Formats: sequence, structure tokens, C-alpha cells
Amino acid sequence: METAEAASSLAGKHIVLGVTGGIAAYKAVEVVSRLRKKGAHVHVIMTRGAQNFVTELTFREMSDEPVITDMWAKVTHYHVEHIALAKLADVVLVAPATANFLAKAACGMADDMLTTTVLATKAPIFVAPAMNTAMYENAMTQENLERLRAHGFHVIEPASGQLACGTSGAGRLPEPVELVSVLEQFFDGGAQKNSADASACQKRDLVGRKVLVTAGGTHEPLDPVRYLGNRSTGKMGFAVAEAAAQRGADVVLVAGPVGLATPAGVRRVDVLTAQEMHDAVLREYADTDAVIKAAAVADYRPKERAGQKIKKKDGSLFLELVRNPDILKELGEKKKQQVLVGFAAETERVLEYAAGKLKKKNLDFIVANDVSRKDAGFSADTNCVTILGRDGSQTQPPLMSKRVLADVILDCVARALAAGRN
Ligand code: PMT
Repeated sequence: METAEAASSLAGKHIVLGVTGGIAAYKAVEVVSRLRKKGAHVHVIMTRGAQNFVTELTFREMSDEPVITDMWAKVTHYHVEHIALAKLADVVLVAPATANFLAKAACGMADDMLTTTVLATKAPIFVAPAMNTAMYENAMTQENLERLRAHGFHVIEPASGQLACGTSGAGRLPEPVELVSVLEQFFDGGAQKNSADASACQKRDLVGRKVLVTAGGTHEPLDPVRYLGNRSTGKMGFAVAEAAAQRGADVVLVAGPVGLATPAGVRRVDVLTAQEMHDAVLREYADTDAVIKAAAVADYRPKERAGQKIKKKDGSLFLELVRNPDILKELGEKKKQQVLVGFAAETERVLEYAAGKLKKKNLDFIVANDVSRKDAGFSADTNCVTILGRDGSQTQPPLMSKRVLADVILDCVARALAAGRN
């Protein structure tokens, strides 16, 4: 057994991982690896379909446990009959969960080892649907998911983006780091204590709230072909928008020029420059309940925008830059009921500078982002932050995917809204 990472709530847990027959089955291999690094025992059950995508041997090597592929095979490694794993499990995770598996589970079928285990276990069950968008959005799949939820299953919402079938939309299996974080958060305490709050992915605590999110960088044109910009990809802001929509909010996403698909249920407004972002945000602000400003906005723009491409000459070229509006500061000055969350991208004295922005911009929270780390900040899929509250609170989640972090940020927002702090 590998050494458990510092004090993970998954250490020593028996996790039954069901892998069904979708292209995302390969990601389940990394899930096993990550769970083992957290000190968990992982018992894999593969459906017949899954065996077309990944071999049993791969999972056996990764988990260092026998892998179940057939309900009728002679079992020598578990003490009792075919429900041994159902009894042993502290939690069952099915990832990826195909539409076919969801349909069978929703009907209570038990025609293979995975569905039998799911039916027989008393452990909490998480399913991570992954499939083509049309299949996911099909009313029958959605009804099956509703039925599973009603029976206490925890549904981990799929991510949006480019799918293996070439289309774009909801249906992508979340990243392994995110799936592991969902289980870890579950065992961390809060979720277990209150089944109504069973996991971040199921919260509907923003229903009836309007949430305004900004994402991506801005482009400040120099001439028709050049601009000043920055390295923001929009991943952080899009993750927040997706999470807020899944929690029931009415989400407006003001996005700079990025190449990401719009998350399901989100109204998107595309902008290019800081001034355009300013105007779009101010138009939406009055009836907004919470603003999360993940965008990296240019503080300066070229004073002149050349009408034609600037020609090179001998010697240096000097650009005069003028200040852009500080959008968030203006929101802070006009603030009424809104909960305001800023991000601070810093490379040094991270907490000190972030705390200064929290105060100066009259924010409720600031997400202090050390962008000098490779696994955090610009373009990474993960982030490592400290969330500072105006009341002096400090939340320091571990390194996690931007999507899981989005829920941690929204937990702060939801609490502030519920407390009617503004
Ligand atoms: O998009 P990704 O690739 O996922 O990267 C994520 C990120 C690093 C861009 C994001 O997590 C982040 O840190 N965003 C804030 C970047 C930034 O511009 O920080 P800042 O310290 O310069 O600005 C502080 C806050 O004021 C920010 O919320 C910013 O949106 C806002 N601001 C800044 C300048 C300006 N003119 N108007 C603003 O509203």
C-alpha cells in the first residue's frame, strides 16, 4: 500500500469503483491511482462494456486488488458470495456511469456484478454520468437520474466541453482529481452529518439567486491585428459559472475572449476589452445577488488604437497606456445587497496584497491566488488559494480542481447570502 497523503479522510476506506462501458473508462484508472495515494483500498468492478475500453489487468495492477468482471466466475478472493463487496464498501462510486447503467440502476435491476452490488449495498452511492450530450439530455436519462436522486444516490454532474464523439456540451466525466475530491469532501464530515447536504454536487442552495460571473482575460487593441492581453484561459470563471448553475442560480457569465464551451444553463455575454466588460457587468449589476470576478482585467489600454497595422521602423516604439476602469472597485462603491467576491492574482506577498484589495474594493471575499505556482492560477486545471473574508475569516482548501474549488467559493457565497449579510 502506498503512503496516504497527509490526513486524508479517505485513508483506510474501502471504495468500490464501478467502471462501465464508456470512452471515459480510461480516466477511472487515474481515479484508482489517486484514491490509493490517499490511502484508500479500491475494489474495482468492471462491466462487460468497460472491458472493451480498459483491461482488467490495468485495474488489478493499479489497485493491487482482484478485479471483478463476471458475477458467475468462481470467486476465491472474497470470503462470501457475490455481495461481499456490497457489505465491505464504505462508499460506491460508479465512474463513468453510462446511460445504460443508470437506466438499469434506476429500475433496480441486478443482472451483473455492478448492478447487484449497487442494489445490495447500504453504503452511499455516487454516480458520475458520462456520455454524449444528446443521450445525457434525453428526457429518459434525466428521469432516471431524478429517480436515482430520489432514492438517495449522489449524482456528480458531468462537466461541459469537447466530447469524444466530436460534439460539445454537457456529458464529460469530471477530472479524476475532482471525483476524488467529491468523495474526500463527503468523508470530511459535513456531508455525512446532514444528508440533505450530502455533497457539493447536489446542493441547490442558489435557487432564486442571480449570480454574475466574469471569466477570462481582456484584449486591448493596439491596431487591427495586435492587442495587449494576458494568459487567462477562463477555466476558473467558467467552473464557477457551471457550479452556480448546477446549484440552481440564474447565472450570467461575462466572458473575455476564451475558447471554452458555455456551461449548461448559463447565459453568456461575450466581451473583448475591459471597457466592454465594465459596461456588460454594470448593465447586469442592479438585481444581482452575488458577483464572482474571476476575470483577469487589463489595468491599462493603449491610449491610441491605430486604424491601420503599425509598421515597423528603426529604433524603439513607445506606447502610451491609459488606465482602464477598475470594474470591481466601482461595484464595491455601488454595492447594496450584492455579495462581492474578487480574485487576487499575486506572485509575492500573496495574502498581504489580497487583503489590501479586499478592503480597497469593499469586497465580502477575496480569493488569493498564488499565480507563481505551476499547478495553480493561469491555465492550470487545478488551483490553490486562500479565501479571505471581510470578517477576518480565512479558508485554505488544499490543491483541488477548479471545478471543486468553485463549489468551495460558492459555499462562502451561499452562507453570506443566507445570513443576509448585505
Ligand atoms: O482563467 P484561468 O486560466 O483559469 O486563470 C484563473 C485566474 C488566474 C485568471 C483567476 O483565478 C484570477 O486570479 N483572476 C484574477 C486576476 C486579476 O486580474 O487579479 P487582480 O489582482 O489584477 O485583480 C483583482 C480583482 O479586481 C479581480 O477580481 C479582477 O477581476 C478585478 N479587476 C481588476 C482590474 C480591473 N481593471 N477591473 C477589475 O474588476
